[in-house]
Amino acid sequence: MTPFDFQPADRPTFYFVGVSTGQSSIMRVFPEWAKALGLGDCPIHGIDCRPHDAPEVYRRVVAFLKHDALSLGGLVTTHKIDLLNAARDLFDGLTPDAELLGEVSCIFKRGGRLLGDAKDPLTSGLALAAFLPPRHWAETGAEVCVLGAGGSSLALTTCLMKAAAGAGRPSRLIVTNRSTPRLASMKRVHAQIASPVPVTYVHAPAPARNDAVLAGLPCGSLVVNATGLGKDAPGSPITDAATFPANGLAWEFNYRGALVFLEQANAQRQARNLHVEDGWVYFLHGWTRVIADVFDVEIPTGGPEFEELARIAEPFRRQPGESGPARRGGRVRPPPAFSRVRHGKTGD
Ligand SMILES: NC(=O)c1ccc[n+]([C@@H]2O[C@H](COP(=O)([O-])OP(=O)(O)OC[C@H]3O[C@@H](n4cnc5c(N)ncnc54)[C@H](OP(=O)(O)O)[C@@H]3O)[C@@H](O)[C@H]2O)c1
Repeated sequence: MTPFDFQPADRPTFYFVGVSTGQSSIMRVFPEWAKALGLGDCPIHGIDCRPHDAPEVYRRVVAFLKHDALSLGGLVTTHKIDLLNAARDLFDGLTPDAELLGEVSCIFKRGGRLLGDAKDPLTSGLALAAFLPPRHWAETGAEVCVLGAGGSSLALTTCLMKAAAGAGRPSRLIVTNRSTPRLASMKRVHAQIASPVPVTYVHAPAPARNDAVLAGLPCGSLVVNATGLGKDAPGSPITDAATFPANGLAWEFNYRGALVFLEQANAQRQARNLHVEDGWVYFLHGWTRVIADVFDVEIPTGGPEFEELARIAEPFRRQPGESGPARRGGRVRPPPAFSRVRHGKTGD
C-alpha cells in the first residue's frame, strides 16, 4: 500500500509506516495482542514507502494520520529521520528524545494534538537490561562496541551515555561505521549529552577493521551488530576470523534474515563463554511501548503481563534464516484480559 492509494479506514486504525510492512511478524502478532489488551476492533494497516522517499510522500502520510479522526497513530521504522525532516511542522509536539535524535518512531494523539516520540533509546535499554547480568559493568569494567552508526546505534549509545551511575555504565563505547557521515552526525548528537562515558568513533571501511576493534575489547564486553547486515543486506560486519571477547555478550539487533553475525557469535559461544542474543525482545519492547502510547494503555515492561504478550507473539516469530511466512508453531491460547486504560494522565 502506498500513501497515495489507501482509503481512510471505517474503524479506528493503528498504522505501521515501513518498507515491506506485510512481511513483518507484527501483522500477525498485533491482532492477538489487541484481543489480549482489550483494544477493541482496531486493525493494523501498513503504509509502505520507499527508503528515502520523496518528502511529499512523508508529508501526505503524516497529514493523513493527523487529520483522519479514525487514525489513532502508528509506529515508524526505516523512515524515522526522513519522515520527521519532511513533516516536522505537522507535529504539534515532540518529546525531548525525538528532538535530540531528530527522528520519530511513535506517532500518537493527545487531546487532538499530533505528537511524536523516539522510542529506541528507551526500548533498546529495556532489551539490553533483559539479558545483561546485574552489575555487569561495575563488576567487569567492560566496554561496548556497536558496529554501525545508524539510528538504532545512536539510540543505544544515547541510552548508555545517559544511564544513571547507579544503574551501571560501560567504561567506554566504541562505534564503528563503514563510511564517515553517520559517525560525524552521531558525534554532534553525543556532544549534547553530558556523560562521563568516553566514546571512540572508528571508520571501518572493511570488516577486517571491525575484527581489529573486537580484538582490542576487554573481557566481558558487549558487541552489537547494528548494521542491518544479515537482514537488510547479506553478510556480516565482521569476518569469520574475528574473535569475540571472552565472557562477553553478542547482540544481533535483528531476529529474522540470514543472520551471519549471529552464526559467527554462536560458533564461539562455548569456547569464549558468550551470551548470544537476537533482536526479538527488542522487537517486543519496541512495539509494546508504541502501542501503549497510541492506545493510551498501561503495558508493563516486564513481569507476568509482559511475559504473556511475549508468549502470545512467539508462534509468529520468524526464525533467523527463515524467509517464508512466519512460523505458526503452537496454538494461541485465549489470553487473560489485562487491559488497563490510562485515565486522564495526559489531559485528554
Ligand atoms: N529488533 C528490533 O526491534 C530492531 C530495532 C531497531 C533496529 N533494528 C534493526 O537494526 C538494523 C539497524 O537499524 P538502523 O535503523 O540503525 O539502520 P541504519 O540507520 O540503516 O544504520 C545502519 C548503519 O550501519 C552501517 N554499516 C553498514 N555496514 C557496515 C559495516 N560493514 N561496518 C560498519 N558499519 C556498517 C551503515 O553505514 P553507512 O552510513 O555507510 O550506510 C549505517 O550507518 C536494521 O536492520 C533494523 O531492522 C531492529
